Amino acid sequence: MVRPRTPLVEVIRERIGLTGTKHGCESGACGACTIVLDGRPVLSCITLAVDCDGKQVRTVEDLADSDKLSKVQEAFLDQGAVQCGYCTPGMLMSVTALLERNPTPTHAEIRKALEGNLCRCTGYNSIFDAVRQAAGEDVKPVFQ
Ligand code: FES
Ligand code: FES
Repeated sequence: MVRPRTPLVEVIRERIGLTGTKHGCESGACGACTIVLDGRPVLSCITLAVDCDGKQVRTVEDLADSDKLSKVQEAFLDQGAVQCGYCTPGMLMSVTALLERNPTPTHAEIRKALEGNLCRCTGYNSIFDAVRQAAGEDVKPVFQ
């Protein structure tokens, strides 16, 4: 049972205990709280939990298969696209949703998919290269 105005991020983190999804601005501006709702990236801080009844909610905990990281997670590691990591779960969910609906995005489509996810650490080039790698482009890993 949730109150009508309870945001989805609160249910995910505090009721279910999946803390991979991050609180950031809590106003729809940073993307740290991005999850995938019925196949689309959604900001869980400005999404009401009651509006998700009956829908598929996927969080960053869904990406790895036991010890095996997803190809998007692997690409972020290979490209050094993680520094403090606070933005990373949201980035991973935006990229995962992009590649599931469009496995070979153009560079413009990659930029568009990431425009709602802010990172204050890595710079965006390594993140961009990680998406290119995950999409099958020939991008040399920075770390192996
Ligand atoms: S915490 Fe949701 S967009 Fe910043
Ligand atoms: S890695 Fe620190 S905010 Fe993106």
